[in-house]
Amino acid sequence: MRNLVIAGNWKMNGSQTFAQEMREALDNAEFSERITTVVFPPFLAIHTMLGSDKFAVGAQNCYTEQSGAYTGEVSPELIADAGCQYVLVGHSERRTLLGETDQVVAKKVKLAVSAGLTPVLCVGETLDERESGNFKDVVEQQVVAGLKELSGDEVKQVVVAYEPVWAIGTGKTASADQAQEVHAHIRSVLNSAFDGAGDAISILYGGSVKSENAAELLGCADIDGGLIGGASLNSKEFITICRIAA
Ligand code: G3P
Repeated sequence: MRNLVIAGNWKMNGSQTFAQEMREALDNAEFSERITTVVFPPFLAIHTMLGSDKFAVGAQNCYTEQSGAYTGEVSPELIADAGCQYVLVGHSERRTLLGETDQVVAKKVKLAVSAGLTPVLCVGETLDERESGNFKDVVEQQVVAGLKELSGDEVKQVVVAYEPVWAIGTGKTASADQAQEVHAHIRSVLNSAFDGAGDAISILYGGSVKSENAAELLGCADIDGGLIGGASLNSKEFITICRIAA
């Protein structure tokens, strides 16, 4: 049975006051035990969110080394040591804005697993790749490349998030059929390339998820939850999506 995960990626948003208000709202909410709720605050707000029994906390990124002279960077080990359980790896905004390569992503995934974190490997095609028709090949390549440093059993510790770049922050959500098609392909790739690991791995959808479209998306056979951006910055909206998921 795969974990049903609803995660909020706050991106570079969330003052200390915002985090405190969000913490209070989520701590006072009732969440079904059927879902795992995760928040990914910016680094400086992580400690405000740690320690709740209602949700887990993750970091939005990590470095490619576990310790050393890397000013400004944060290692998976330090993220785990702080009490986080998850880390986003390879978000499309880091791939496009910061030139993060598949090789860097693969190293981060490996180090995250080694540190006891659950990496959320983010993959997704651009609008050009979608319109050219080779979006499945693009996503397949990102999945295989991102997991290639893991051993067989380690792969099962990963969560994958499919986030079509053209749906992120645009309000242009993928249709349920579009999302299901890629999720099913990702699961097939995980099963064929990683000894059947696909059936155990949660595959989340991200890209303009809102309470209005969550039910249709989360009702798809191969969609095991959502990675929510903008809507996760509104506690009522995020809690509603969690309730719809359950
Ligand atoms: O990581 C989730 C994010 O990329 C999706 O953003 O605002 O389209 O929900 P949004």
